[in-house]
Amino acid sequence: MPTFRTIKSLTQCLKGYRTAGLRVGFVPTMGFLHAGHRALIEESVARCDITVVSLFVNPTQFGPNEDLDRYPRALEADHDLCRTAGVNLIFVPDASEIYPPGFQTYVEPGPVAEPLCGAVRPGHFRGVATVVTKLFNIVQPDVAFFGQKDFQQCAVIRQLVRDLNLPIEIVTVPTVREPDGLALSSRNSYLSAADRARARCLSRGLFAAHAAFQAGERDSQRLVETAQAQMTEVDQLQYLQLVDARTLEPILGSVEQPAALCVAACVGTTRLIDNVLLIPPPQALADHELELVSHVIGRQATAGAAGPRPS
Ligand code: PAF
Repeated sequence: MPTFRTIKSLTQCLKGYRTAGLRVGFVPTMGFLHAGHRALIEESVARCDITVVSLFVNPTQFGPNEDLDRYPRALEADHDLCRTAGVNLIFVPDASEIYPPGFQTYVEPGPVAEPLCGAVRPGHFRGVATVVTKLFNIVQPDVAFFGQKDFQQCAVIRQLVRDLNLPIEIVTVPTVREPDGLALSSRNSYLSAADRARARCLSRGLFAAHAAFQAGERDSQRLVETAQAQMTEVDQLQYLQLVDARTLEPILGSVEQPAALCVAACVGTTRLIDNVLLIPPPQALADHELELVSHVIGRQATAGAAGPRPS
């Protein structure tokens, strides 16, 4: 499986595929791949002729006191996973290939990047939007795949693609979970055994809110309280918010549109995020809302279809 370190060599190769009329799928990652990434790759392999994966720990999306230096890396294992999952090309650039000396232009996302993680990690989505735009320009995929666990990231990228007229379909793939519900994340590797056990309370809380929603609860405050009641084992709850699934504006009062309950919390020194979708039955939704749900859950929207799916 060819691995490219330079933009020039990658684009040369991709030109041949495009000339042959092949559909290119792209899975951008920061490496240390797990079953969640595998699900993105498998979705791409199923939908596209060629699947490109990038492995790049993007420095511009980390704050000065964040974990850039200790972010886990496992290049060999990443190669193995890509090979067995059916990836055709891997792109592993150095930081200087993406940000050469003199680099000075950034992509500044709008209000969708301001709440939730945007409020806790200033500049994070500017770094994500910049690197994703650059990677899109380099790879020029037909379709790109992102995980629902990074729900705000998906919203920022959908907005970016709309606003900048990028001819790329964005597919969001449902979160892959451990059997006990914990969302897979490269950062789970930081958790001690005791912290790992405590981290379960996040998905437990989200599932409790989802069950209440399915049982007919629509009051946003009560739904948040239902989740929060389970999340007592974390060290710091950074946010737990019920937001509109497209704009990420907070929902106060009754939940009548596609919504996401999003959480970020520290367990020990590890920061974890997770979310669950709360989707009213299709007959209660307008056409544009149904379309959004189908994009987010990767299939036709049906009542209850967006529910959590512990693996
Ligand atoms: O989700 C990630 O792994 C990163 O934020 C991404 C999209 C690869 C950009 O660096």
